[in-house]
Amino acid sequence: GCALTAQATLNFTHTVTGQPLDLSEASPDGRDTEAVKVFLASGKNIYVENVSCLPKGKDLFLSMCSGCHGHYGEGKIGPGLNDAYWTYPKNMTDQGLFETIFGGAQGQMGPMYGALTLDDMLLVMAWVRHFYKDDPKEAVWLTPAQRANFTPFDGHNDHTPPVEQAPVCQAT
Ligand code: HEM
Ligand code: CA
Repeated sequence: GCALTAQATLNFTHTVTGQPLDLSEASPDGRDTEAVKVFLASGKNIYVENVSCLPKGKDLFLSMCSGCHGHYGEGKIGPGLNDAYWTYPKNMTDQGLFETIFGGAQGQMGPMYGALTLDDMLLVMAWVRHFYKDDPKEAVWLTPAQRANFTPFDGHNDHTPPVEQAPVCQAT
């Protein structure tokens, strides 16, 4: 019942069942950011490798995901998210990763649409892409320019500032 200006032009489907996802189930908050608009129209996440936005994504990951996937996505009761192997190859695309987070997968991997806004999901996704530790050549989710500049993540050498000390997250 609220005015939604962000319109999906892509079709989003559940990672396990392939059924269409209903994006209107997401919170009305965090729907009309520039990043959400671009993402719903193109499947591109403009927060990826945006240094100003990584601290927020890290914060969200630590509160919502790390309990199952490990502090830096190294894997725990859920699979590692920091390497080049994906149970569901579609998670190598930002659209696929979004679909898995929004709609969930099997077992403990429940849907996140009730807990995170669409904008939050894009922020978490940017952090997941950032803590990738394997060969940048396999990071097909990055643009060629991002891939050329990407340094595999090292959790022992994480210089991400806390949110309070980070620049304002701005979509660029
Ligand atoms: C699977 C992300 C929260 C447990 C996955 C996958 C992704 C993901 C991308 C698929 C990995 C692949 O294809 O290899 C996230 C994110 C979270 C989150 C970003 C927070 C927003 C959680 C939580 C739990 C959990 C809180 C436990 C309660 C699992 C399990 C799987 C999984 C067990 C395997 C499911 C399957 O293979 O179908 N997660 N997850 N995740 N996650 Fe999460
Ligand atoms: Ca993995």
